[in-house]
Amino acid sequence: MIISIVGARPQFVKAAVVSKAFRENGIPEKIVHTGQHYDTRMSEVFWTELGLPSYDINLEVGSGSHGKQTALMIEKIESYLLACDPLPRAILLYGDTNSTIAGAIAASKIHIPIIHVEAGLRSFNRRMPEEINRIVTDHLSEILFCSSDSPVNQLETEGITKGVYEVGDVMYDAMATFSEIAKSKINLTDVIPFPEGDFALATIHRPSNTDNIDNLNSILSAIAEIGMPCIWPVHPRNKKKIAELDLPSNLYPVEPVSYLEMLILLSHCTKVFTDSGGLQKEAYWMKKPCITLREETEWIETLENGWNVITGSNKSAILDAANNPPDPDSWKPVYGDGRASVRIAEIVKKQYAY
Ligand code: UD1
Repeated sequence: MIISIVGARPQFVKAAVVSKAFRENGIPEKIVHTGQHYDTRMSEVFWTELGLPSYDINLEVGSGSHGKQTALMIEKIESYLLACDPLPRAILLYGDTNSTIAGAIAASKIHIPIIHVEAGLRSFNRRMPEEINRIVTDHLSEILFCSSDSPVNQLETEGITKGVYEVGDVMYDAMATFSEIAKSKINLTDVIPFPEGDFALATIHRPSNTDNIDNLNSILSAIAEIGMPCIWPVHPRNKKKIAELDLPSNLYPVEPVSYLEMLILLSHCTKVFTDSGGLQKEAYWMKKPCITLREETEWIETLENGWNVITGSNKSAILDAANNPPDPDSWKPVYGDGRASVRIAEIVKKQYAY
């Protein structure tokens, strides 16, 4: 049995395609939901629309400080794993959230091998909780699946060469799998709160932007000048703050959107403003210029030819990037061919002999 641990939005999307590949390869899997994301529009809606198998258990850890949330997860994941009879052959972890590091610490201490999907990424900014989560998880993992060759090289510089596989990116698999389904199920006009036409898509949820009022105001004042409406699906954490702000009239905050709704927004939008990790890649694959509201990115390949531009919260840098889109002919495919999840399933099957 493989136990997959998920807890946050992007992990539900990744698990949808990997879990399907596991089923098709006859690999027995149980999914554990840590409960890190718990609002209906942050969790349940993904399970329903992506056809994920029901989770075996929801540990319902909810929110808390990093230490508290992670500790609660470690305790509950450990109890769950120890109650499995026989013990799982491996635990599978995605990305860089607190659910990821908690799974890694719980499993490694009771000698359950760890498989890490999206291994080897680094922002080189240790003030990001995700950076700590990535480093620790990679160094505890037995199998490390990388999206491209740069994380493979990064792992090598950290002395990790065994069990490393470049397989492509599972989020690309998800986009390839769900884009047509999204088109058949979702109407753009049901998602956007303004008439059809050019529009931008924004997601802003990193504490470095949302918890610093100067940074947030700088970003919002740039968006005020982009000359088109901008839709902003707001993370529940920021709902209260938004209500207190004087928002630009072209910025439309909406409830968090589902994955299929996000694919429709991405496919129709003109440009993307984001501090999310995954959305940078999705914008790139959809050939949409991306303005990244952070000081660095783990997804360095997206920076090539100006498809993704790092601006931080600097207003003039944001506007400069927004007004200078890349040459459409300069786009190159990155992060695989839509078969990452199949490769992952084949390697897992071979390694753990199902
Ligand atoms: C987490 C990940 C981040 C990922 C993001 C995807 C960590 C350290 N960060 O960030 O890498 O990009 O998920 O969305 O794991 N909250 C709700 N309802 C929910 C969930 C959260 O209201 O369903 C609020 C709570 O106030 C909570 C805050 O959001 O304290 C932050 O949630 P948390 O899961 O800790 O981190 P994210 O910012 O979502």
